[in-house]
Amino acid sequence: MWELAWELRKGAFTKAKRRGTAFREAQVKLRTLGRTGFEISTVSFGAWAIGGTWGQVDDSESLAALHKALDLGVNFFDTADVYGDGHSERLLARLRRERKDPFWITTKAGRRSSPHVPDQYHYENLRGWVERSLKNLETDAIDLLQLHCPPTDVYYRPDVFGALDRLVKEGKIRHYGVSVERVEEALKAIEFPGVESVQLIFNLLRRRPADLLFQRALEKRVGILARLPLSSGLLAGKLTANTKFANDDHRNFNRKGEAFDRGETFSGIDYQVGLEIVEELRRLVPEGMTLAELALRWILDHEAVTCAIPGAKRPTQVVENARAADLPPLPPELHRALEKLYDERVRGLVHQLW
Ligand SMILES: NC(=O)c1ccc[n+]([C@@H]2O[C@H](COP(=O)([O-])OP(=O)(O)OC[C@H]3O[C@@H](n4cnc5c(N)ncnc54)[C@H](OP(=O)(O)O)[C@@H]3O)[C@@H](O)[C@H]2O)c1
Repeated sequence: MWELAWELRKGAFTKAKRRGTAFREAQVKLRTLGRTGFEISTVSFGAWAIGGTWGQVDDSESLAALHKALDLGVNFFDTADVYGDGHSERLLARLRRERKDPFWITTKAGRRSSPHVPDQYHYENLRGWVERSLKNLETDAIDLLQLHCPPTDVYYRPDVFGALDRLVKEGKIRHYGVSVERVEEALKAIEFPGVESVQLIFNLLRRRPADLLFQRALEKRVGILARLPLSSGLLAGKLTANTKFANDDHRNFNRKGEAFDRGETFSGIDYQVGLEIVEELRRLVPEGMTLAELALRWILDHEAVTCAIPGAKRPTQVVENARAADLPPLPPELHRALEKLYDERVRGLVHQLW
């Protein structure tokens, strides 16, 4: 029944599909990012993969993907100083040179430190990392700087947030937020009044942020950036047991957290188990929709989420992902079916881990 209801609600979009004009290019919608005043695209762009650690990438294809994103109204790009050692930031600087369209870039700092310990998060280091990003991004001020999954203790050090306030005063950064691994880190971080955004993993296989954090974020008007919206590509439904990942693709070398937090690759779900769950999810995808669209639209159905930041390497992926922003909310029956599947297959595996 809900499939029919959804068909009726999405109206013209479905008809266009039936007429064979299926893959018209949607223009993404906007939401306000916390208290920043930035009106950003609900489906934005994650620029990790175009920088590195995801196998071979071709800069001309990456740039084509970035241009396509702007064409579709995507106006917010998430990168980090360590993605390809600045390569991702430099590609975004090039995009800025090549296009007049206004857009925002958020980058991250902290992961250049070695060892990666709380003591590294002091003003001088932060200032140095920011200066380097400013150079890569060819700009005078960073729109939004995020701490890049720092150790938990950093959230118990007010001086770190004082240093970020100082960088705002100096005009080096316009706003700041945090990218976190755990829900509790986010809850602690948003106690600092200067924190305007939280980035964390939120997808069909990682639902705990919706339990408490989202309500608190809404109360404090903190923006939420949902990363890994496709669970490293798993939720796009195109990976199989035979998919070969390159040696330098983290989906090859970090499946059990060997190089960085286990939760960052396939959201911490065992790959084979993930494939089985995807097969069950596939059965719930309404006619006329792709699994990637369902996964992204599900995220946007949460009011607290400002945007999803799917990583895309190719223009075709950007087009598919952007379409999700143009879809109506999923019907309640479908939400319930997705929750049931999560409860039965996923909750016990990961819910309490992050
Ligand atoms: N600690 C942090 O702060 C942190 C950590 C991780 C990510 N992030 C940010 O979050 C962003 C998103 O996360 P993510 O890139 O790790 O995971 P993701 O968005 O869940 O998955 C991205 C991968 O999925 C595949 N894909 C994307 N769109 C697709 C489509 N329409 N159809 C089929 N495949 C598609 C692509 O890989 P293939 O084509 O190779 O399959 C792509 O590289 C990153 O780019 C980064 O900006 C931040």
